[in-house]
Amino acid sequence: MSHTNAVPSPETARTPEEFVRLLRRLRAWSELTYRELEIRAQRHGLHLARSTTAAVLGRGALPRAGFVHAYVAACGLTPEPWLGARQRIAAASETRGADIPAVPAVPAQLPCDLADFTGREAHLTAIGEGLTGASGTTHGVVPVVAVSGRAGVGKTSLAVHAAHALTERFTDGRLFVDLRGASSAPAGPREVLVRFLRALGLPGPIAVPDAVEELGALYRTLSAHRDLLVVLDNAASERQIRPLLPGVGGPAVLVTSRHRLTSMGPSRSVELGPLSPDQGVAMLARIAGADRVAAERQAAADIVRLCGRCPLALRIAGARLACRRQWPLDRLADLLRDDRRRLDELAIGDLAVRERLEQEYAALPQEARRTFRLLGLLEAPCLPAGAAAALLDCPVGLAETRLEALVDASLLTAVPGEGTGATTTYRMPDLVRLYARERAGAEEAAAQCRSPAAQRPVS
Ligand SMILES: Nc1ncnc2c1ncn2[C@@H]1O[C@H](COP(=O)(O)OP(=O)(O)O)[C@@H](O)[C@H]1O
Ligand SMILES: [Mg+2]
Repeated sequence: MSHTNAVPSPETARTPEEFVRLLRRLRAWSELTYRELEIRAQRHGLHLARSTTAAVLGRGALPRAGFVHAYVAACGLTPEPWLGARQRIAAASETRGADIPAVPAVPAQLPCDLADFTGREAHLTAIGEGLTGASGTTHGVVPVVAVSGRAGVGKTSLAVHAAHALTERFTDGRLFVDLRGASSAPAGPREVLVRFLRALGLPGPIAVPDAVEELGALYRTLSAHRDLLVVLDNAASERQIRPLLPGVGGPAVLVTSRHRLTSMGPSRSVELGPLSPDQGVAMLARIAGADRVAAERQAAADIVRLCGRCPLALRIAGARLACRRQWPLDRLADLLRDDRRRLDELAIGDLAVRERLEQEYAALPQEARRTFRLLGLLEAPCLPAGAAAALLDCPVGLAETRLEALVDASLLTAVPGEGTGATTTYRMPDLVRLYARERAGAEEAAAQCRSPAAQRPVS
């Protein structure tokens, strides 16, 4: 060992961060690698895993006494003065409640952006205008932009892309949370508020109050007048979002949900539908290779159509082609042309169209599930309200109410009729219809077996 520098002394450390900094200096002084430290600790009969040393020295938290003992001994010094200093700092930290390292003042919680994000130019402009107040939000009111659309249409990708693009506008930070609205365990307000408060610099668990109202008030205080963007992804309902809204202008909120959040009165609603055919082909080209798409333009257009221009389905189709470079595009198109196999083919790794549809279906109320299944028995994708009344065996008004529940869940689209008194036509996207047909096959047949009297032809 060539000890060129003075031996670091633990006496000067006042905070956990300073203490860890001195431990780092001690290693530099000892000129030992993590591996050598581990071996030297073993010689003293002590345990000092390399990974633990790297982790402890990389954080600002006060290490355990056992670690300090083994580490200092391995460096060739007497541990006692270091253990004494550690004890002194631990006692001081407890009284201050500050033994958790300070979080950065500017939270940057957005997940990473897609390298191959495609299209959506108009939506990005609308979101930007809505969040920055360019669309005329009253001064002091928090702008809320809500993006809705069915599973896999690209809501999260769009929100994340838009939020990254606005980094320079929201210089006080970007908060992000997945509210798990489509799951059976959506995030509650306490869980999210505590996370947000920590990210905004509230130290440690000691200072966090119990009551959700108080947490909310603290959150509104800390977020007030800050240029902060709050992204609430995958919201189940307005009720879930309300406690997470800042109270006064400065911050802005971007929400995504499968539902249209009408009662909340967002400053701006952005309804996300399928990509345009050209954007679909462009997305496929970026994932599977521009040369392959250029060589088989018709097959590429067919794949985009058979995927319903849905980004999730296209991501899966593209990924399947990308890992089979030798496949002609038409081979995949052929597999997708078979209605009975299409949902099976649209799966790779942890992505599967059917699985997303299953989640949406499971989240529907019982009556809406039955309406959904009955629509799956139809051959045509479009259904005028009058025909829906016959199918559902109820008056037109009630049929429309039932179908609107599926529109709100983004499983149907409503096309208003033209002219006065014209009725609405409802359209079910092809992939959704294939799944509805599967459900009808599995559940309606079973229901009819159980109750033969209920059998009646559906026209
Ligand atoms: N504009 C886009 N460009 C490229 N890929 C996209 C785009 N939008 C969505 N995707 C891809 O589609 C899939 C589903 O998108 P996601 O944002 O998770 O949908 P949602 O949040 O609506 O369920 C993701 O794998 C994503 O990579
Ligand atoms: Mg999502």
